[in-house]
Amino acid sequence: DWTMGAYREEMIAKIREQVGDRQVICALSGGVDSSVTGILLHEAIGDQLTCVFVDHGLLRLNEAEQVVKMFRDNYNLNLIHADESDLFLGALEGVSDPEVKRKTIGKLFIDVFQKYADQIEGAEFLAQGTLYPDVIESVSFSGGPSVTIKSHHNVGGLPEKMGLKLVEPLRELFKDEVRTLGRELGLPDSFIGRHPFPGPGLAIRCPGEITRDKLEILRKADAVYIDQIRKHGLYDEIWQAFAAILPMRTVGVMGDGRTYDYALALRAVTSVDGMTADYYPFTHEFLGETSTRIINEVKGINRVFYDCTSKPPGTIELE
Ligand code: XMP
Repeated sequence: DWTMGAYREEMIAKIREQVGDRQVICALSGGVDSSVTGILLHEAIGDQLTCVFVDHGLLRLNEAEQVVKMFRDNYNLNLIHADESDLFLGALEGVSDPEVKRKTIGKLFIDVFQKYADQIEGAEFLAQGTLYPDVIESVSFSGGPSVTIKSHHNVGGLPEKMGLKLVEPLRELFKDEVRTLGRELGLPDSFIGRHPFPGPGLAIRCPGEITRDKLEILRKADAVYIDQIRKHGLYDEIWQAFAAILPMRTVGVMGDGRTYDYALALRAVTSVDGMTADYYPFTHEFLGETSTRIINEVKGINRVFYDCTSKPPGTIELE
C-alpha cells in the first residue's frame, strides 16, 4: 500500500526526531495496536527500545509463548517476558467481584510494569498504541484489543507517575489503518486478524472465584471452540468468540459413571465497534459438534451452553 508505505516512513522520521538517542519502553500485549507500535518503534530506533510483555497468568492456551516467539523470531527486538502469573493469581485468590478483579489486575499491572521499567537505565519515553478514536473520545477502552496502558487496564496517569514522556505513533490512525500498517510491517495475517482480547483476560471469563484448576479447563475448552470456528471458516465473520467457565457444576453421565463437572458457556458475536453486538447464529450442527468435541476432549466439562444474548441488553464479556 503506497499511502501506508509513505506514512510509515514519515512516522519513523518523527519518532527519531522525538526520541533522539534516548531510551523507550513499551508494553506489548500481543494485540494489534501495541504490536504495531512496538515494531514501528523498533524500526525507528532499534535497540533503544525495550518491550515488556506482562504475563498475568490469565492468557489463553500457549498465548504467551506464541507472542514472545513471534516477536523474537521475526523482529529481534529487546523483549522482556515478565512471567508474573503467581503474583496476579495470588492477589486474585478469593476475589469474585468483577470490578475488584479489574482493579486488582490494573494496579498490579502498573506495579509490575514499573518494576521492569526501573531496570532499564535512562528510560525517558513510554510508547503507547493510542488510536485516533481513543484520542477524540476518552472511553475506558476502545473495544478492540488495544493495550495502551490507559485503555487496556482502565488506569490513566501512569506516564506522569513514572515521569515518562509519551510516544504515540498511531494517534492519527483508525483500527483498519493500523491493520494495514501492521501488514506493511510484516505482521502475520493470523496476528492482525485476531479477535479482541480484554486486558483482564480470562479473569472476566471465569465468573466468580478464579482458580488455577478452572483456568486450565477454560484454556483447553476455549482452544477447542476456536479450533472449531476456524475449521468451519467462520473466524473472520465473528467479532469475538470465546468460552467462559461457569461457577456451577452439573451432573452428567459418561460411560458407566456419573460426572459432576463444570458447565461451559460459549459466546460469539458480530459487531462493528464492540459497543453493540449481535449473537452469532451458528447452525445446530455446529453447536452440537462443538459441544461433543469439548466434552470429549476436555476433562472437567460435562455440559455446554450457547449464549444467545445480544448487546444490549447483555455485554460481550460475562463480567
Ligand atoms: P463488553 O463486555 O463491555 O465488552 O460488552 C466490549 C468490548 O470491550 C472488551 N472489554 C475490555 N477490554 N479491559 C479491556 O481492555 C476490560 O476491562 C474490558 N472489558 C470488556 C470486550 O472484550 C469487548 O471487546
